[in-house]
Amino acid sequence: MTAALDAYWMPFTANRQFKQQPRLLARSSGMHYWTDDGRQILDGVAGLWCVNAGHARPRIVQAIAEQAAELDYAPPFQMAHPKAFELAERVAALAPGDMNKVFFTNSGSESVETALKMALAYHRVRGEGHRTRLIGRERGYHGVNFGGISVGGMVANRKMFGNMLGGVDHLRHTHDPAKNAFSVGQPAHGADLADDLERLCALHDASTIAAVIVEPVAGSTGVLVPPQGYLQRLRELCDKHGILLIFDEVITGFGRTGAPFGAQTFGVTPDLMTVAKGLTNGCVPMGAVIARQHVYDAFMQGPEHLIEFFHGYTYSAHPLACAAGLATLDTYAEEGLLTRASELQGYFAEALHSLRDAPHVIDIRNIGLVGGIELTPRPGAPTQRAFDVFLDAFHKQGVLLRTTGDTIALSPPLIIERTQIDQLVDTIRTALKRVA
Ligand SMILES: Cc1ncc(COP(=O)(O)O)c(C=O)c1O
Repeated sequence: MTAALDAYWMPFTANRQFKQQPRLLARSSGMHYWTDDGRQILDGVAGLWCVNAGHARPRIVQAIAEQAAELDYAPPFQMAHPKAFELAERVAALAPGDMNKVFFTNSGSESVETALKMALAYHRVRGEGHRTRLIGRERGYHGVNFGGISVGGMVANRKMFGNMLGGVDHLRHTHDPAKNAFSVGQPAHGADLADDLERLCALHDASTIAAVIVEPVAGSTGVLVPPQGYLQRLRELCDKHGILLIFDEVITGFGRTGAPFGAQTFGVTPDLMTVAKGLTNGCVPMGAVIARQHVYDAFMQGPEHLIEFFHGYTYSAHPLACAAGLATLDTYAEEGLLTRASELQGYFAEALHSLRDAPHVIDIRNIGLVGGIELTPRPGAPTQRAFDVFLDAFHKQGVLLRTTGDTIALSPPLIIERTQIDQLVDTIRTALKRVA
């Protein structure tokens, strides 16, 4: 390590603490990272819920290199390149039902902003411009831009930033440990929480509401799995009231829950779906909004020479990202990775729930290859016990975990082997015994 650490202002990081004891990754391959001092680290979180096919996959590496040499950039406004269409078609083919229109962005946050704007504009082009209200959910995470933090519900991400978007309201979150602690898979209690939407319709009038956005599985807030019947109920209520349903599938997309998308795992098709992360295996920044046919059709009115949706990014459908996306989807298909979580989830669940009696554990949640282990907060020092587990795992045991609040989150690459699942769980068990 030769460079000074001062200049880089790190995102979502305790900068001063980090710079006293940096954790630097230098190389990656398959299920592992290597640190700058050569230690091998088992990746328990697919980087940041994104490297679903594992690291440095040859097909993806090659596709990016070749693309950079062949066509480095193509303007996406009034111009395009063939791989953008190809990738859109491939993504649409994976999506449920008639979700067959794909709008590219560069991140999950941008996908969320795009979907919210699409929902508002959709109602307006249909002559229902009075539908301006957006409904999110407490504890939701939809990225860090203003739309996303407005509909999101994680207080630390909101409280410093003044006014949010106007006309936003929130459903209650679905976390109910009194009834659902240690549920394996979807908890039994809480479908009725979707009826909050009825309450908000009664309060604001349904005719003012444009869209509801939820994560099928709330990830960043600590892995909250939807109660049985909850998403179905939300879909019914949206249909009843003419409200668009948006699933934020930035984490659940591309195989995390055992099917290509959470929508398929839970059997509920939204109107819009936001994705990112696993779309390119995390290799090149890229996100997308996947829309149902009727949403797209609503925009395709009026004179054909006019732009239908005044929105887009300089790097929408970037050639490098499209090349990475196509190679990623090939890799997923060749290795059956988009359904591998469904094969492994029984083993994963059993391993995870074996931590039930470990010190400090108050809840364990799982679906597909995503897990959350919630700890009692240390008195007067919330989040620190879980963070100490993270530090122990990384520095002493060569395993990368992630924590959010006092929950340890797991979302390993979908290529994980059973022995590596054991290693993750043993690491957490050892760390839990060591932390105060
Ligand atoms: C559900 C959800 N939406 C949006 C985002 C934001 O994605 P990005 O960090 O790529 O902007 C995330 C990131 O974790 C997420 O989990």
